[in-house]
Amino acid sequence: MTILVTGAGLIGCHTARLLIENGQSVVLLDNNPSQPAISSILGDKLPPIERIDIRDLAAIQAVIARHRVTRVLHTAAALSLAFNANPPMGAAVNILGTVNLLEASRQAGISRFVFGSSTTVAYSTFHRPAAMPIVEDFDMKVVEDRPGSFYAASKLSAEYFIQLYADRYDMSVGILRYAAVLGLWAGPNNSVPGRLIESLLAQSDNGVVSITDPFLLWSGGDDFIDARDVARANVAALEAASLPTRVYYIASGRLTTLREFVEAARQIRPDVAIQMPPPPATGFAGFPHLRAQPFDIGAAQRDLAFCPECDLVSSLRDAYRQITISGPRRSQTPPTARSG
Ligand SMILES: NC(=O)c1ccc[n+]([C@@H]2O[C@H](COP(=O)([O-])OP(=O)(O)OC[C@H]3O[C@@H](n4cnc5c(N)ncnc54)[C@H](O)[C@@H]3O)[C@@H](O)[C@H]2O)c1
Repeated sequence: MTILVTGAGLIGCHTARLLIENGQSVVLLDNNPSQPAISSILGDKLPPIERIDIRDLAAIQAVIARHRVTRVLHTAAALSLAFNANPPMGAAVNILGTVNLLEASRQAGISRFVFGSSTTVAYSTFHRPAAMPIVEDFDMKVVEDRPGSFYAASKLSAEYFIQLYADRYDMSVGILRYAAVLGLWAGPNNSVPGRLIESLLAQSDNGVVSITDPFLLWSGGDDFIDARDVARANVAALEAASLPTRVYYIASGRLTTLREFVEAARQIRPDVAIQMPPPPATGFAGFPHLRAQPFDIGAAQRDLAFCPECDLVSSLRDAYRQITISGPRRSQTPPTARSG
């Protein structure tokens, strides 16, 4: 009765921690696992960690057989920065890697397959007025509304493969579209929200923090959710008797502006001046359209009993605690592009 968690990253580790606390047997799979980073979330209760690349089907099959895996949570992925730097690699990891896991799961008779997707699959529709709030089965023109980034395209593509495997082979699947996830750990904070809070809450010698990367700034609103709330949703999706609608937004259902986000950071770091240029004309993470509608989290509330517990200030406070535990960091402004 072991649960395979692919991706020993921020979300995979928070979910593994909850599962282990619930008495479940877990195996973590990652092509580049870092034990100190994993321990920053899991402490000393470390499950088996398999160093495996999800592009390697035979290795996945062997892990599933060796650990007698019965359920799968798939969070391993190339996030946008890595994807944009190497699109063939990103597509191979996010699309082929997902199909490899589906195929190995089908062959092994896995009873539940849960996938960590992204709300960015819907961002290309923000330019059109939509019914409020945005439902999972949003209106999308397949040509005009094509996904706004390689990353979003890969997530939507993976979603379709998962739906087709479920249709053809009667697999039980859950597709969880996470909003922008808040949380820091001792590993690399690869996501746009991770880089944003790492920059905002960075240690500062002169009492000033500067955000210079325009992709960490936005106009309009965006939706943020704590990594621990995401982990609770993942566990609920792994354990639910059935997942009638298959696709769920895991989001707060609220929009936060850049000004509100910075005000929350000021509550955590009142001693530091935050400097940034005027916000760009674009939406969150460089997506072109400003966001005016929240996501409908009703399906997740109904089927997963999903109820976000962490507010923005408490998420930032805990992230800052992680920075102070993990040692001083500097504000990071790597070149970036549209993300998730
Ligand atoms: N963090 C967010 O804001 C956010 C938002 C929406 C969706 N998501 C999705 O949630 C999932 C987890 O995100 P995260 O924030 O924990 O990211 P993360 O980068 O912390 O974790 C991803 C893990 O996947 C591993 N990985 C990458 N390529 C691999 C490969 N070829 N084989 C095996 N492992 C590989 C990485 O080593 C990393 O540990 C991802 O699928 C991401 O797309 C994240």
